[in-house]
Amino acid sequence: MCKILLIPIFICIINLFLASAVKCPSCIGIIVDRMNKSLSSSESHCEEIVESAAMCKSELFIELIDACPAVINYITTPSNALITNSADSELVTNINIPLDIGNAYASVIYDCYDKDLCNNNIVEKQYEKLIALNYTQLTIKLTELLYDDQIVTKQQPIECYNRNRKIEKYSINGNCQATLVIQQGRSDLLITTCVSDRRPGSIAGVTLQSKSVGNDYQKTSISYICNRNRCNDPIIMNQIRQILAQFDLINSNVNSLQSFSSVLFIVCMITIVWNRCMLYL
Ligand SMILES: *[C@@H]1O[C@H](CO)[C@@H](O)[C@H](O)[C@H]1NC(C)=O
Ligand SMILES: *[C@@H]1O[C@H](CO)[C@@H](O)[C@H](O)[C@H]1NC(C)=O
Repeated sequence: MCKILLIPIFICIINLFLASAVKCPSCIGIIVDRMNKSLSSSESHCEEIVESAAMCKSELFIELIDACPAVINYITTPSNALITNSADSELVTNINIPLDIGNAYASVIYDCYDKDLCNNNIVEKQYEKLIALNYTQLTIKLTELLYDDQIVTKQQPIECYNRNRKIEKYSINGNCQATLVIQQGRSDLLITTCVSDRRPGSIAGVTLQSKSVGNDYQKTSISYICNRNRCNDPIIMNQIRQILAQFDLINSNVNSLQSFSSVLFIVCMITIVWNRCMLYL
């Protein structure tokens, strides 16, 4: 019993010991002109306080407005938080694209525990990728499928898919909602529902969250609230997924291929079993 407890503690201590060699520049709340196209923590806008720490935590917040010199916040801080996972780097990216009011924005959070991982400019690369996109064009494509400003003024009830994938008619001010969770090595999970509450701010929009830990784990979720009739149809979600893949915001269909090969495999097995059965008949 005691030995079982000791192992994780031992691993923890080893991790802390190995990881404490990380040095990260300490830059708090710098503001960079988005028109500059590249973000470098080593440039003048960053105060270079190199500290030894258990990990480096970088946080980046960007307003994604086309052709506008938006400001961003980029924070890199050393942290001595106790590392309890396998000391793999962790990257979390959130992108919000409202379709009715407001502008798109994104946040990138990166934790690293290793000198090489901390020096690989992951956040800078994410920044360059995010500002290279044309959000006007992306918003137009998403709006075509998800948002109709006429419905808001006409006050019409709409139909949505509920949790049981049945079509239901909802009262005025009801919006459809869909969330797709894509995880490596698992089949995709789609949840459809209706939201009836009127929250302040944007009511229709797409949220994309992706998290990757080391090289092995990746989870992406696409979520949206929409007001077009039956806009949380699984077919529409698939189209949204394709659009996001076209814009390079998510990987293209890894899982679809996987499920395709599983279907092929099952068909194959059934054919083999069927043929065997026929031999005995
Ligand atoms: C933009 O980049 C130039 C050249 O690298 C640099 O001199 C300038 O300070 C940058 N501006 C901002 C606001 O970061
Ligand atoms: C972005 O897309 C819009 C609509 O397609 C287009 O009018 C605009 O010129 C594009 N902007 C850039 C910078 O490519």
